[in-house]
Amino acid sequence: MLPFKAIRVHQNASGTSASLESLSLEQLTSGAVRVRVAYSGLNYKDALAITGRGAIMRAYPRVAGIDLAGVVEASEDPSFRPGDRVLATGAGLGEWLDGGLAEYARVPAEALVPLPEGLSLLEAMALGTAGFSAALALRRMLENHQDPAQGPIVVTGATGGVGTIALLLLRQAGFQTAALTGKPEAALQLRELGAEEVIDRGQLDLGAKPLEKALWGGAVDNLGGEVLTYLTRTVRPWGNIACIGLAQSAELNTTVLPLILRGVSLLGIHSVQVPRPWRLALWRQLAGPWRPPRIEQRIVRAVIGLDEVVQAARELMAGQARGRYVVRLAGDL
Ligand SMILES: NC(=O)c1ccc[n+]([C@@H]2O[C@H](COP(=O)([O-])OP(=O)(O)OC[C@H]3O[C@@H](n4cnc5c(N)ncnc54)[C@H](OP(=O)(O)O)[C@@H]3O)[C@@H](O)[C@H]2O)c1
Repeated sequence: MLPFKAIRVHQNASGTSASLESLSLEQLTSGAVRVRVAYSGLNYKDALAITGRGAIMRAYPRVAGIDLAGVVEASEDPSFRPGDRVLATGAGLGEWLDGGLAEYARVPAEALVPLPEGLSLLEAMALGTAGFSAALALRRMLENHQDPAQGPIVVTGATGGVGTIALLLLRQAGFQTAALTGKPEAALQLRELGAEEVIDRGQLDLGAKPLEKALWGGAVDNLGGEVLTYLTRTVRPWGNIACIGLAQSAELNTTVLPLILRGVSLLGIHSVQVPRPWRLALWRQLAGPWRPPRIEQRIVRAVIGLDEVVQAARELMAGQARGRYVVRLAGDL
């Protein structure tokens, strides 16, 4: 097979560096299924790995990209056959396995999900880990009895990939939402995604007491740090906070009072190693009853090439995300 292109991260004396390289299949980590990648996506975690701002990869060199969608070319595992359309999110790609920002990938069969009917390869990557995580958050909140009658759900990091899709999914599930953002100029876009209210993070009074006035029915948090502390202070009795991200900080300083005096729950969201039945069920939900309307128009900021990935990763690290970048490899197959 001819060499193919990939974004690969190397470790060097000053940290790590990412570049567009030519690779052969034998250079990839092993996996029973060879996939011709049609599209990948760009997540905050990919941006951490590509810019070297976060220790995401467990070994070097590694091909970046925690997500991929494509077509099986060959499989040593009977669960997949040439021609099958598949997707993978998390599951070790771009961390301990070579990832999806490449024209070809070798993937363990258990990491792959058959592309559910109702989603194109491009739409699967418009959702990607961001959409899967937002759906996992909604599932966990509903399982813990979150109800629209409890009040609006506040979504932080609202203009980012997870935030954008969380707003769409929550709205569709009947919740009112508020978008907390560092980009008040994106208010119109956030309202189009379903936010009834847009709050400028720069103007937010974070409070100081363990319990402040209870405002929110629940929350989906992508930031961590002092914003997550604020959420613990202001979520109403029996509300859930889905804790997804750390775009601001990995710290959480709070008290037990919201938990024991208001029954607030902090729900952990982890999208990498997810029990396979949950993974399959959530993708079926995302392709079916939870499918966001007009995925391409509402979620995709731009479809970019591999040669644009490093620059796009720098933008995400600077907090400039708006929706999702989809990365075109082979394109529609
Ligand atoms: N737990 C999991 O399995 C899981 C899965 C997916 C993502 N995540 C995490 O969730 C977070 C969001 O992921 P994403 O893919 O949606 O990221 P993204 O597309 O890059 O969006 C991040 C958003 O966070 C806000 N933000 C605030 N401070 C920021 C800063 N210092 N740097 C960058 N962004 C900042 C910005 O929104 P505003 O300007 O609107 O505030 C930005 O648009 C990340 O921390 C990511 O690692 C975790």
